[in-house]
Amino acid sequence: MEDIKRIEELRNQLHHHNYLYYVQNSPTLSDQEFDHLMRELQDLEAKHPEVYDPNSPTQRVGSDLSTGFTQVRHRYPMLSLANTYNEQEVASWYENVRKDLDGQPFEVCCELKYDGLSISLTYEQGRLVRAVTRGDGEQGDDVTANVRTIRAIPLVLPGTGYPDEFEIRGEILMPWKVFEQLNAEREKAEEPLFANPRNAASGTLKSLDPKLVAKRKLDAYLYYLLGENVPSDGHYENLKTAEAWGFKVSEGIRKANSLEQIYDFINHWDTARHDLPVATDGIVLKVNSLRQQQQLGFTAKSPRWAIAYKFKAERVCTRLNEVTFQVGRTGAVTPVANMEPVLLAGTTVKRATLNNEDFIRSLDLHIGDNVFVEKGGEIIPKIVGVDVSHRSPDLQPVHFISNCPECGSLLVRYAGEAAYYCPNDTGCPPQIKGRIEHFIARKAMNIDSIGPETIDDYFRKGIVRNVADLYEIRTEQINGDGTRQKSAQKIVKGIQDSVSTPFERVLFALGIRFVGETTAKLLAKHFKSIDALMTATPEQLVEVEGVGTVIAESVVRFFHDEVNLNIIERLRQHGLQMALSADQQQIASDKLAGKNIVISGVFERHSRDEYKAMIESNGGKNVSSISNKTSFILAGANMGPSKMQKAQQLGIEMIDEDTFLNMLEQ
Ligand code: IVH
Repeated sequence: MEDIKRIEELRNQLHHHNYLYYVQNSPTLSDQEFDHLMRELQDLEAKHPEVYDPNSPTQRVGSDLSTGFTQVRHRYPMLSLANTYNEQEVASWYENVRKDLDGQPFEVCCELKYDGLSISLTYEQGRLVRAVTRGDGEQGDDVTANVRTIRAIPLVLPGTGYPDEFEIRGEILMPWKVFEQLNAEREKAEEPLFANPRNAASGTLKSLDPKLVAKRKLDAYLYYLLGENVPSDGHYENLKTAEAWGFKVSEGIRKANSLEQIYDFINHWDTARHDLPVATDGIVLKVNSLRQQQQLGFTAKSPRWAIAYKFKAERVCTRLNEVTFQVGRTGAVTPVANMEPVLLAGTTVKRATLNNEDFIRSLDLHIGDNVFVEKGGEIIPKIVGVDVSHRSPDLQPVHFISNCPECGSLLVRYAGEAAYYCPNDTGCPPQIKGRIEHFIARKAMNIDSIGPETIDDYFRKGIVRNVADLYEIRTEQINGDGTRQKSAQKIVKGIQDSVSTPFERVLFALGIRFVGETTAKLLAKHFKSIDALMTATPEQLVEVEGVGTVIAESVVRFFHDEVNLNIIERLRQHGLQMALSADQQQIASDKLAGKNIVISGVFERHSRDEYKAMIESNGGKNVSSISNKTSFILAGANMGPSKMQKAQQLGIEMIDEDTFLNMLEQ
């Protein structure tokens, strides 16, 4: 069926763009284009519940849960807002509200949409008792200690007349000035830059060190007072009252009685927002009366009584001077546009990514062209078009290079991929350095005594040319030249300590193409040792759940390479774990043998990962989606409604965590 095919296609595309946005920090779609695809997928999925998939991009409400903080359930879920992008969409929301309110008169509170991260604050007797991030909307991280460092948030309310207990929500932001200063410092220290103030604020708030948070000078605006005992039926009036209690509320809020007044507000802030000290990405419109809000209610994801209007990205025109090419750690070659510096949304822009060859072709780009550059919420701008009407006839078209700019190898383009790659993965400097950086990363060998700059330095000096060389570094080699005896010892110790890292992480650290953290775990568990994995055939590899032909071929290719085999042997000599430990190999029991178990909901006694491990070490299999093959569901609190429905339809037993634990103990 057409629809089903399209769903598949959209899911793949959105997963990919999610990755580019969140992992690579280099989105190739505007937020608007992304939202558009997401909406299309949501609509199609609603039409076809039979293809429900818990891993669909639509199911990813955007969790920012992180380890190290206690998780707290929100008393009222923290929902997001539906987005609109033009006046027609605003008008149709307004019309729907009018219809749903059966012609009752209503007012709309117009506010700025702050581009930071949302926070929920609880006050008791006028004192801040808890601050929780949005998390997955149902539960978030308790970041109270960090939030206490934000001066815009009152710890004890200076005003009077507030209820004994209430919750107020708002946005935590990093002001532009602080953001720019922070990035300048990071640039100096050769640390990776934050893409935008939102990421910087979020990274800061997730820090486990409140002292660092305090230094970063975060700001906050509050925009939503909630609870059963709020002072008035008017949202606007409540915010004004909250302001009197001592909260920082945007001075930009206005009430509107007509669409015209709403448009005036939008048009005013579309330009005036550039003078604000913090980032905004739109306007929020809320039906003012709480009684009417209640009458309008919610859809599954967002309130019907409110909507966001997103500002259009700013655009300027400038000259393309040159295209250069960068080689990343995977060997992917990215073209970069170097332009005549131009002021865009408050910063000077001179470089933009050009994604890939197809993108350059689709723009029909010539050196010397006048190009249109846009910047949305991101710091990295992008070229969105060419002014062909002003192109002089002698300009030369941009050609993609055929050889690696770093090592000269002939570039290759794999079937189905847009990027060109340098195939010289064992000899091309940025690739070698990239692999070493990956090897020492936190989720891999977790060697934190060195960082990218040190690797670069050792590589240039010829001390380290591959990951095995790390274990042969001697203190005398790195001592002096800026590194004192003590730090040199620390570096060597950090590396030596990593030899006890478990096998599955060593496997991930090796950086086999397409073998991420999860695949590495699956492979380690199945083959138990690197010797077994090394000799596995593609047929044996695809027997592992989650491993397809692409991964299988990549694994086989990796272990066929003499250079890799040599490195592995040396790592083994240095004592790295090349097999599962005895503990890991032992099966606790076979009580769950043959059982397919779905884990769903939120648990109190153990984490999901712990339950997964328990299932597996007792011989069972943890599966992700419910089908008639499911033996039972290990059900926590707040199981998703679609899962619940499916379980009931198929008559599958649900077992709570206590019963499950008893089952294993007996
Ligand atoms: S009201 C149920 N007001 O936008 C409505 N949100 O997609 C709750 N945001 O997660 C939100 N400025 O982080 C509201 N003036 C404002 C806002 C605002 C920014 C953020 C907030 C929320 C997201 C909605």
